[in-house]
Amino acid sequence: MNSHFDFENILVDTKDLSQSGVVTITLNRPKVLNALDTHTLREIVAALSGIKELSPIVVLTGNDKAFAAGADIKQMLAAKPSDQINDDREKLWTEFCSFPFPIIAAVNGFCLGGGHELAMACDLIIAGDNAKFGQPEINIGTTPGAGGTQRFTRTVGKAKASYYALTGEMFDAFAAEKMGLVAKVVPYRTTVVEAKECAKKMAQKSPMALRLIKEGINAAFNTTLNEGLKLERRNFYLTFSMDDQKEGMQAFLEKRPPQYTGQ
Ligand code: CAA
Repeated sequence: MNSHFDFENILVDTKDLSQSGVVTITLNRPKVLNALDTHTLREIVAALSGIKELSPIVVLTGNDKAFAAGADIKQMLAAKPSDQINDDREKLWTEFCSFPFPIIAAVNGFCLGGGHELAMACDLIIAGDNAKFGQPEINIGTTPGAGGTQRFTRTVGKAKASYYALTGEMFDAFAAEKMGLVAKVVPYRTTVVEAKECAKKMAQKSPMALRLIKEGINAAFNTTLNEGLKLERRNFYLTFSMDDQKEGMQAFLEKRPPQYTGQ
Protein backbone atom coordinates (compact mmCIF):
# COMPACT_ATOMS: atom_id res chain seq x y z
CA MET A 1 0.00 0.00 0.00
CA ASN A 2 2.90 2.37 0.75
CA SER A 3 4.29 2.35 -2.78
CA HIS A 4 0.86 3.61 -3.89
CA PHE A 5 1.48 6.77 -1.91
CA ASP A 6 5.02 7.52 -2.90
CA PHE A 7 4.71 10.64 -5.02
CA GLU A 8 7.05 13.36 -6.24
CA ASN A 9 4.92 16.51 -5.89
CA ILE A 10 2.38 15.59 -3.21
CA LEU A 11 2.45 14.01 0.23
CA VAL A 12 -0.29 11.59 1.15
CA ASP A 13 -0.87 11.04 4.85
CA THR A 14 -3.05 8.03 5.64
CA LYS A 15 -2.16 7.70 9.32
CA ASP A 16 -5.57 9.01 10.47
CA LEU A 17 -7.45 6.76 8.08
CA SER A 18 -8.11 3.72 10.27
CA GLN A 19 -8.92 5.79 13.39
CA SER A 20 -10.87 8.69 11.95
CA GLY A 21 -11.45 8.03 8.25
CA VAL A 22 -9.42 11.04 7.07
CA VAL A 23 -6.64 11.25 4.47
CA THR A 24 -4.57 14.40 4.02
CA ILE A 25 -3.03 15.26 0.66
CA THR A 26 -0.46 18.06 0.72
CA LEU A 27 0.72 19.81 -2.42
CA ASN A 28 4.48 19.87 -2.16
CA ARG A 29 6.22 22.06 -4.75
CA PRO A 30 7.11 24.93 -2.40
CA LYS A 31 9.76 26.42 -4.71
CA VAL A 32 7.08 27.33 -7.25
CA LEU A 33 4.30 28.04 -4.74
CA ASN A 34 2.71 24.67 -5.53
CA ALA A 35 2.11 25.56 -9.17
CA LEU A 36 -0.10 22.87 -10.64
CA ASP A 37 1.64 21.19 -13.53
CA THR A 38 0.01 18.21 -15.19
CA HIS A 39 2.24 15.79 -13.30
CA THR A 40 1.00 17.15 -9.95
CA LEU A 41 -2.61 16.93 -11.06
CA ARG A 42 -1.98 13.38 -12.23
CA GLU A 43 -0.53 12.49 -8.83
CA ILE A 44 -3.51 13.96 -6.97
CA VAL A 45 -5.90 11.95 -9.11
CA ALA A 46 -3.80 8.79 -8.70
CA ALA A 47 -3.78 9.25 -4.91
CA LEU A 48 -7.56 9.69 -4.87
CA SER A 49 -8.03 6.64 -7.00
CA GLY A 50 -5.78 4.64 -4.63
CA ILE A 51 -7.87 5.51 -1.56
CA LYS A 52 -11.38 5.62 -3.05
CA GLU A 53 -12.32 2.08 -1.96
CA LEU A 54 -11.74 3.07 1.68
CA SER A 55 -14.48 5.77 1.60
CA PRO A 56 -12.22 8.44 3.09
CA ILE A 57 -12.87 12.11 3.70
CA VAL A 58 -9.97 13.99 2.12
CA VAL A 59 -8.28 17.17 3.28
CA LEU A 60 -6.36 18.82 0.44
CA THR A 61 -3.86 21.46 1.47
CA GLY A 62 -0.63 23.26 0.59
CA ASN A 63 1.70 25.18 2.89
CA ASP A 64 1.45 28.48 4.80
CA LYS A 65 2.62 30.53 1.81
CA ALA A 66 0.54 28.89 -0.90
CA PHE A 67 -2.25 26.44 -1.45
CA ALA A 68 -1.36 26.74 -5.15
CA ALA A 69 -0.42 29.82 -7.20
CA GLY A 70 -2.07 28.52 -10.36
CA ALA A 71 -1.29 26.33 -13.30
CA ASP A 72 2.43 26.08 -14.01
CA ILE A 73 3.29 29.12 -16.13
CA LYS A 74 6.66 27.64 -17.13
CA GLN A 75 4.96 24.50 -18.42
CA MET A 76 2.38 26.57 -20.32
CA LEU A 77 4.63 29.25 -21.83
CA ALA A 78 5.48 27.53 -25.11
CA ALA A 79 2.32 25.43 -25.36
CA LYS A 80 0.24 25.37 -28.53
CA PRO A 81 -3.54 24.77 -28.49
CA SER A 82 -2.89 21.21 -29.72
CA ASP A 83 -0.56 20.60 -26.73
CA GLN A 84 -3.33 21.74 -24.43
CA ILE A 85 -5.94 19.60 -26.17
CA ASN A 86 -3.69 16.51 -26.19
CA ASP A 87 -2.72 16.97 -22.55
CA ASP A 88 -4.75 14.86 -20.13
CA ARG A 89 -5.63 17.79 -17.85
CA GLU A 90 -9.28 17.88 -18.86
CA LYS A 91 -9.69 14.20 -18.05
CA LEU A 92 -7.81 14.68 -14.77
CA TRP A 93 -10.09 17.54 -13.71
CA THR A 94 -13.13 15.41 -14.53
CA GLU A 95 -11.74 12.54 -12.47
CA PHE A 96 -10.94 14.86 -9.57
CA CYS A 97 -14.52 16.17 -9.61
CA SER A 98 -15.99 12.68 -9.71
CA PHE A 99 -14.31 11.53 -6.50
CA PRO A 100 -17.40 10.32 -4.60
CA PHE A 101 -16.53 11.39 -1.04
CA PRO A 102 -16.07 14.89 0.39
CA ILE A 103 -12.82 16.75 -0.26
CA ILE A 104 -12.12 19.74 1.97
CA ALA A 105 -9.66 22.35 0.73
CA ALA A 106 -7.62 23.75 3.63
CA VAL A 107 -6.29 26.96 2.11
CA ASN A 108 -3.47 29.14 3.42
CA GLY A 109 -1.63 31.78 1.41
CA PHE A 110 -1.97 32.14 -2.36
CA CYS A 111 -4.87 30.34 -3.96
CA LEU A 112 -4.79 31.64 -7.50
CA GLY A 113 -5.80 30.66 -11.02
CA GLY A 114 -5.76 26.86 -11.33
CA GLY A 115 -5.16 26.68 -7.55
CA HIS A 116 -8.35 28.60 -6.93
CA GLU A 117 -10.10 26.39 -9.46
CA LEU A 118 -8.84 23.29 -7.66
CA ALA A 119 -10.09 24.62 -4.31
CA MET A 120 -13.48 25.40 -5.87
CA ALA A 121 -13.64 21.87 -7.29
CA CYS A 122 -13.44 20.59 -3.71
CA ASP A 123 -16.65 20.31 -1.70
CA LEU A 124 -15.81 23.16 0.60
CA ILE A 125 -13.01 25.52 1.48
CA ILE A 126 -11.73 26.30 4.96
CA ALA A 127 -9.44 29.30 4.67
CA GLY A 128 -6.69 30.60 6.89
CA ASP A 129 -6.82 34.32 7.64
CA ASN A 130 -3.73 34.81 5.41
CA ALA A 131 -5.36 33.31 2.32
CA LYS A 132 -5.38 35.30 -0.92
CA PHE A 133 -7.68 34.21 -3.71
CA GLY A 134 -7.93 35.27 -7.32
CA GLN A 135 -8.14 34.49 -11.02
CA PRO A 136 -5.08 36.39 -12.25
CA GLU A 137 -4.93 34.81 -15.72
CA ILE A 138 -5.91 38.14 -17.25
CA ASN A 139 -2.60 39.56 -15.95
CA ILE A 140 -0.66 37.07 -18.09
CA GLY A 141 -2.68 37.36 -21.27
CA THR A 142 -4.86 34.30 -20.90
CA THR A 143 -8.14 33.16 -19.36
CA PRO A 144 -9.15 30.74 -16.62
CA GLY A 145 -9.41 27.21 -17.99
CA ALA A 146 -10.77 24.98 -15.24
CA GLY A 147 -13.77 26.66 -13.66
CA GLY A 148 -12.60 30.22 -13.00
CA THR A 149 -15.35 31.70 -15.15
CA GLN A 150 -17.90 28.95 -14.41
CA ARG A 151 -17.76 27.60 -10.85
CA PHE A 152 -16.58 30.99 -9.62
CA THR A 153 -19.53 32.80 -11.24
CA ARG A 154 -22.07 30.25 -10.04
CA THR A 155 -20.67 30.51 -6.52
CA VAL A 156 -20.26 34.28 -6.07
CA GLY A 157 -22.47 35.72 -8.83
CA LYS A 158 -21.70 37.66 -12.01
CA ALA A 159 -20.69 41.00 -10.48
CA LYS A 160 -17.97 39.68 -8.18
CA ALA A 161 -16.70 37.02 -10.59
CA SER A 162 -16.48 39.60 -13.39
CA TYR A 163 -14.74 42.10 -11.14
CA TYR A 164 -12.04 39.70 -10.00
CA ALA A 165 -11.56 37.70 -13.22
CA LEU A 166 -11.47 40.83 -15.42
CA THR A 167 -9.16 42.89 -13.20
CA GLY A 168 -6.99 40.01 -11.94
CA GLU A 169 -7.11 41.54 -8.43
CA MET A 170 -6.71 39.26 -5.45
CA PHE A 171 -9.16 39.15 -2.55
CA ASP A 172 -8.62 38.02 1.01
CA ALA A 173 -10.17 35.25 3.08
CA PHE A 174 -12.74 37.52 4.73
CA ALA A 175 -13.98 38.83 1.38
CA ALA A 176 -14.12 35.22 0.18
CA GLU A 177 -16.22 34.24 3.18
CA LYS A 178 -18.56 37.18 2.62
CA MET A 179 -19.06 36.12 -1.00
CA GLY A 180 -19.92 32.55 0.03
CA LEU A 181 -16.77 31.10 -1.53
CA VAL A 182 -15.34 29.76 1.72
CA ALA A 183 -17.21 28.00 4.50
CA LYS A 184 -15.09 29.31 7.35
CA VAL A 185 -12.07 31.56 8.04
CA VAL A 186 -9.73 30.49 10.84
CA PRO A 187 -6.31 31.58 12.15
CA TYR A 188 -3.90 30.29 9.51
CA ARG A 189 -1.94 28.13 11.93
CA THR A 190 -5.09 26.12 12.62
CA THR A 191 -6.43 25.72 9.07
CA VAL A 192 -5.42 22.08 8.58
CA VAL A 193 -6.49 21.14 12.12
CA GLU A 194 -9.91 22.74 11.57
CA ALA A 195 -10.27 21.03 8.20
CA LYS A 196 -9.39 17.69 9.76
CA GLU A 197 -11.92 18.24 12.56
CA CYS A 198 -14.56 18.97 9.96
CA ALA A 199 -13.50 15.86 8.00
CA LYS A 200 -13.68 13.71 11.13
CA LYS A 201 -17.25 14.88 11.74
CA MET A 202 -18.18 13.82 8.21
CA ALA A 203 -16.37 10.50 8.59
CA GLN A 204 -18.75 9.57 11.40
CA LYS A 205 -21.76 9.78 9.05
CA SER A 206 -23.05 7.22 6.61
CA PRO A 207 -20.58 7.17 3.68
CA MET A 208 -23.36 6.36 1.24
CA ALA A 209 -25.47 9.29 2.47
CA LEU A 210 -22.44 11.61 2.21
CA ARG A 211 -21.91 10.44 -1.33
CA LEU A 212 -25.53 11.06 -2.31
CA ILE A 213 -25.51 14.54 -0.75
CA LYS A 214 -22.30 15.41 -2.61
CA GLU A 215 -23.91 14.20 -5.83
CA GLY A 216 -26.99 16.33 -5.13
CA ILE A 217 -25.04 19.50 -4.36
CA ASN A 218 -22.91 19.08 -7.48
CA ALA A 219 -26.08 18.59 -9.51
CA ALA A 220 -27.14 22.07 -8.40
CA PHE A 221 -24.21 23.36 -10.49
CA ASN A 222 -24.82 21.15 -13.49
CA THR A 223 -28.54 20.79 -14.05
CA THR A 224 -31.81 22.68 -14.05
CA LEU A 225 -33.67 23.07 -10.74
CA ASN A 226 -36.25 20.50 -11.82
CA GLU A 227 -33.64 17.91 -12.79
CA GLY A 228 -31.74 18.57 -9.57
CA LEU A 229 -34.88 18.19 -7.46
CA LYS A 230 -35.69 14.92 -9.23
CA LEU A 231 -32.21 13.55 -8.52
CA GLU A 232 -32.41 14.71 -4.92
CA ARG A 233 -35.78 13.03 -4.40
CA ARG A 234 -34.54 9.77 -5.96
CA ASN A 235 -31.45 9.80 -3.78
CA PHE A 236 -33.63 10.43 -0.74
CA TYR A 237 -35.85 7.46 -1.63
CA LEU A 238 -32.73 5.37 -2.29
CA THR A 239 -31.55 5.87 1.29
CA PHE A 240 -34.62 3.88 2.40
CA SER A 241 -33.04 0.80 0.85
CA MET A 242 -29.93 1.31 3.00
CA ASP A 243 -29.03 -0.31 6.32
CA ASP A 244 -27.51 3.04 7.31
CA GLN A 245 -30.89 4.81 7.10
CA LYS A 246 -32.51 2.17 9.34
CA GLU A 247 -29.56 2.34 11.74
CA GLY A 248 -29.50 6.17 11.82
CA MET A 249 -33.21 6.45 12.62
CA GLN A 250 -33.18 3.49 15.04
CA ALA A 251 -30.20 4.96 16.89
CA PHE A 252 -31.97 8.33 17.15
CA LEU A 253 -35.04 6.68 18.68
CA GLU A 254 -32.90 4.59 21.04
CA LYS A 255 -30.90 7.69 22.02
CA ARG A 256 -27.54 6.13 21.11
CA PRO A 257 -24.83 6.95 18.57
CA PRO A 258 -25.38 5.24 15.19
CA GLN A 259 -23.02 2.52 13.90
CA TYR A 260 -22.90 2.92 10.16
CA THR A 261 -21.62 0.20 7.84
CA GLY A 262 -21.88 2.04 4.53
CA GLN A 263 -24.49 -0.48 3.34
N1 CAA B 1 3.70 28.83 -12.25
C1 CAA B 1 5.02 28.60 -12.21
N2 CAA B 1 5.84 29.17 -11.29
C2 CAA B 1 5.28 29.98 -10.38
C3 CAA B 1 3.90 30.26 -10.35
C4 CAA B 1 3.09 29.63 -11.35
N3 CAA B 1 1.78 29.78 -11.39
N4 CAA B 1 3.64 31.11 -9.34
C5 CAA B 1 4.83 31.36 -8.74
N5 CAA B 1 5.81 30.68 -9.37
C6 CAA B 1 7.24 30.68 -9.04
C7 CAA B 1 7.91 31.99 -9.40
O1 CAA B 1 8.27 32.00 -10.78
C8 CAA B 1 9.10 31.97 -8.47
O2 CAA B 1 10.08 31.14 -9.00
P1 CAA B 1 11.66 31.62 -8.96
O3 CAA B 1 11.98 31.63 -7.48
O4 CAA B 1 12.35 30.54 -9.72
O5 CAA B 1 11.69 32.97 -9.57
C9 CAA B 1 8.55 31.28 -7.22
O6 CAA B 1 7.38 30.58 -7.63
C10 CAA B 1 8.13 32.26 -6.12
O7 CAA B 1 7.24 33.21 -6.69
P2 CAA B 1 7.45 34.80 -6.56
O8 CAA B 1 8.89 35.14 -6.43
O9 CAA B 1 6.70 35.45 -7.69
O10 CAA B 1 6.73 35.03 -5.16
P3 CAA B 1 6.02 36.38 -4.64
O11 CAA B 1 5.72 36.14 -3.21
O12 CAA B 1 6.83 37.57 -5.01
O13 CAA B 1 4.65 36.48 -5.48
C11 CAA B 1 2.60 35.60 -6.41
C12 CAA B 1 3.65 35.51 -5.28
C13 CAA B 1 1.86 36.92 -6.34
C14 CAA B 1 1.62 34.44 -6.21
C15 CAA B 1 3.32 35.48 -7.77
O14 CAA B 1 4.19 34.34 -7.74
C16 CAA B 1 2.38 35.27 -8.93
O15 CAA B 1 1.77 36.22 -9.38
N6 CAA B 1 2.30 34.02 -9.46
C17 CAA B 1 1.53 33.72 -10.63
C18 CAA B 1 0.04 33.66 -10.35
C19 CAA B 1 -0.73 33.39 -11.60
O16 CAA B 1 -0.70 34.14 -12.57
N7 CAA B 1 -1.49 32.26 -11.62
C20 CAA B 1 -2.33 31.88 -12.73
C21 CAA B 1 -1.62 30.91 -13.62
S1 CAA B 1 -2.53 30.55 -15.11
C22 CAA B 1 -3.71 29.43 -14.66
O17 CAA B 1 -3.83 29.04 -13.52
C23 CAA B 1 -4.59 28.92 -15.81
C24 CAA B 1 -5.77 28.08 -15.41
O18 CAA B 1 -6.82 28.58 -15.07
C25 CAA B 1 -5.74 26.61 -15.50
